[in-house]
Amino acid sequence: MSNESTTITRSVLRHLDADALTAAARRESRSRQWHLPPTSVYRWWARRTETVTGAIIDAVATDSPKGDRLLIADPFAGGGVIALAALLRGHRIYAQDVNPWAACSLGTMLRLPAPSELDAAADRLYEANAHHLASAYSTTLADGTPAAVCNTLRVATGSCPQCQATLRLFPAALVSLTKRVDRGGDTGFLACPAGHVQLGTATKRSVCTTCGCYIRPSARYTARRIVKCALCHWSGKLTELATDTGFKWEVVLVERNSSGSSPGKRNREIGPPTQAELTAADDENWHPTRQLPAIAAGMETTTLVTCGMRHWHQIYPDRQRVILEALLRSCPAAADGDPHILRALETAVIGAAEMAGFLSRWDPRYLKAYEAVANHRFNFTTLATEPNVWGAFGAGRGTVERRLAHMAKASTWLEEQIGRPLVVEGPRPAEVRRSAMPGMVDARVVIGGSQRLTVPAASFDAVVTDPPYHDDVQYAELSDIFRAWAGGPTGSLSGDIIVNRHTDGTDTVAYRQLLTEVFLEARRALRPGGHLILSFANRHPDAWIALFDALQGAGYQAAGYAVVHSENETDHAKAGRRACTLDILIDLVLRQVDVEQFRPERPPATIEEEYCYRVGEFALRIGRLGEEWAKDFTRAIQQSSFLGEDFRKEPEAGAICLDRRQNSGA
Ligand SMILES: C[S@@+](CC[C@H](N)C(=O)[O-])C[C@H]1O[C@@H](n2cnc3c(N)ncnc32)[C@H](O)[C@@H]1O
Ligand SMILES: [Zn+2]
Ligand SMILES: [Zn+2]
Repeated sequence: MSNESTTITRSVLRHLDADALTAAARRESRSRQWHLPPTSVYRWWARRTETVTGAIIDAVATDSPKGDRLLIADPFAGGGVIALAALLRGHRIYAQDVNPWAACSLGTMLRLPAPSELDAAADRLYEANAHHLASAYSTTLADGTPAAVCNTLRVATGSCPQCQATLRLFPAALVSLTKRVDRGGDTGFLACPAGHVQLGTATKRSVCTTCGCYIRPSARYTARRIVKCALCHWSGKLTELATDTGFKWEVVLVERNSSGSSPGKRNREIGPPTQAELTAADDENWHPTRQLPAIAAGMETTTLVTCGMRHWHQIYPDRQRVILEALLRSCPAAADGDPHILRALETAVIGAAEMAGFLSRWDPRYLKAYEAVANHRFNFTTLATEPNVWGAFGAGRGTVERRLAHMAKASTWLEEQIGRPLVVEGPRPAEVRRSAMPGMVDARVVIGGSQRLTVPAASFDAVVTDPPYHDDVQYAELSDIFRAWAGGPTGSLSGDIIVNRHTDGTDTVAYRQLLTEVFLEARRALRPGGHLILSFANRHPDAWIALFDALQGAGYQAAGYAVVHSENETDHAKAGRRACTLDILIDLVLRQVDVEQFRPERPPATIEEEYCYRVGEFALRIGRLGEEWAKDFTRAIQQSSFLGEDFRKEPEAGAICLDRRQNSGA
């Protein structure tokens, strides 16, 4: 027996305390930007937690024969959490992603300028555009105090197909409170069913002073995207009212801010637009010069296309386009010749493009704007808000001013954690000649499909990664909102591993094939005895089948599995539809080694955990999955009550997550 213990491979997952990790990961996912400030540098969707990723890397290091500085690889780097987790622990990272927005922004995140340099550049950027910003947003409060427009709320309008009346398509009666509900706000602007807006109570029924009809504050007018004409009672689909160039929009409310009596305080006022504010918001008075690319119809972008938005610039009012264009144009001068400052400024300005004035939703109770993408999908709304791109006296979400301030904080934080600036190679394309990472390089960032990695054989101590989630998150489509501004190509990416039923017909077979290629390449680049540890979550059997087949096909066998908390379960669109809140971690080694497998010690505590254990038990068979395993697997996991009825009747590919579409209401 004593001989054997030197040759048997054990899973690194045995070092994890899954329950403690779950508790810590939950805390992290509720306050991400405090836990890991650099993630505020760029948007990526479904980022995993540093808590879990870091624990995996620590576990790898515990078993490493080599000493303390490992080279970790993440071939699906996305939001860069694994890269950060490795660097924070003093390891080196090789990070690659097929999506240029992710890879380039990751490079920016790892090489942020010093806060003082960023602040100075932000001032220069502001100064260069002060004149534009003033003509776009300067205003006054009702009492004459100088102020800035912080948000401009517009309602979509359309012509009734039956009586030709102009319909103002308010999604709900409550347009906006005047004070946040949690600060005692109970009055606000309400719309009657005919679209007349008036100030009144938001707590009980009132009567429209224009047409005499009742206004119920809780009424929804566009539920399931069906609209009604209050005059002739025509009723039909919202999309029927979109013209070839989208909806028409009418400004209904403006949020203004002024600096308050003491530093950090602000005065806020919400009310109907003044004539001057209407003029400043009017498309006629703004002349953008950049045409952005066409919106490629895909699983997520279809919502936009059916609402008449054909090009990316059509999701913005002209004023917002002009300001974004002007800011982007002045980034090089504001960066004063420093390429890292330039990248940081551009990342902040392009990042602000996610607050698109015809897609950003207004929260009428908490008085804030939301990004165009919510819960991994584009959210078309008929009450959209155009935020002040720069920010008004520090107010506003997602503004350039805020993004730059967050970057400065992230820069300080990273420097404090690591103690010195990182040495980063790249981002460089995946086609470059393969070369070893010199010892002084902390991170190499590569843009391109990980079917080709840019290192020689046996370079990595471990591969720690989250493979793409089958069809769950359409990264290429979602990131087009940024890629459109960044200037490179948009639309599908060559080598992207994603199932998308709307675009090029990539199916589960292609998904498995591409994954196999990446895992094979990772195997080449992994040192002998190295582990590949991945986390994955999915409700669809086909996704797991493809993943397991790909791993086995690339020559791996399972060393163990564990189940930990993954995403933020307060994510509201997912509530009530049994989203996955747990990830399965799978530890893999190359085949033909003796393995003592690891599995969770305690019995499952929830139905989701029970589901994960079922999947995990099959994962342990990777390396020796027989011919008929997929059928057994499908049968076994369909019996899990976690899946409910969803996949019992149609387990084959193409039936994936049919319930998803119902969550994208206007
Ligand atoms: C699940 S995400 C990774 C998330 C990341 N760990 C995080 O915490 O943000 C999967 C990533 O794989 C990328 N991807 C898809 N196909 C790829 C390929 N062939 N090569 C490299 N990256 C790919 C996607 O762009 C996406 O960023
Ligand atoms: Zn009508
Ligand atoms: Zn009315």
